[in-house]
Amino acid sequence: MARDTKDNHWKEDFPIPELESTQVSRRDFAKFLCLVSGGLATGTGYVAIKANFFPPEKIVNEHFVCKKDELPIGGTKAFVISGSDIPYILIHLEDGQFRSYEQKCTHLSCAVFYLPGSGRIECPCHNGWFDALTGEALEGPPPRPLPRLDVVIKGMDVYVKAYEPSNKAVV
Ligand code: FES
Repeated sequence: MARDTKDNHWKEDFPIPELESTQVSRRDFAKFLCLVSGGLATGTGYVAIKANFFPPEKIVNEHFVCKKDELPIGGTKAFVISGSDIPYILIHLEDGQFRSYEQKCTHLSCAVFYLPGSGRIECPCHNGWFDALTGEALEGPPPRPLPRLDVVIKGMDVYVKAYEPSNKAVV
């Protein structure tokens, strides 16, 4: 029998009925589900352990973030501190104050976002909410407040430094 085209060779070499080739056995499907579930459980466990059992990085000195006029009222700026890989956000609240928090939700480390005009920070992963003024967890699964930085304004420059609850120099 002559072959029609170059593309059909595999059909002659591997004569598998089409129905059989698309069928997935229950056992193979269960194996696949176990593999995916195991991977997800391992990843979630790693994130939870890292977030809850490792001490937070110590921040020393002040770190320049941006010029004051770069951030309009209700605006946010994402940044990292040099030498660290922790993401932070700087928020210019509607009342003129600045706040800065880690941009990782305290539930499972999803990125959080300020919702302009609401005074609240949202975690879209599981509908978690934080107070933008204090970082306190308000609703949803987050178990702790967002880790916070102090914001220091020097002229037109905005700096952040390690959070000290008694610090009077911050805004
Ligand atoms: S990761 Fe933010 S609410 Fe779950």
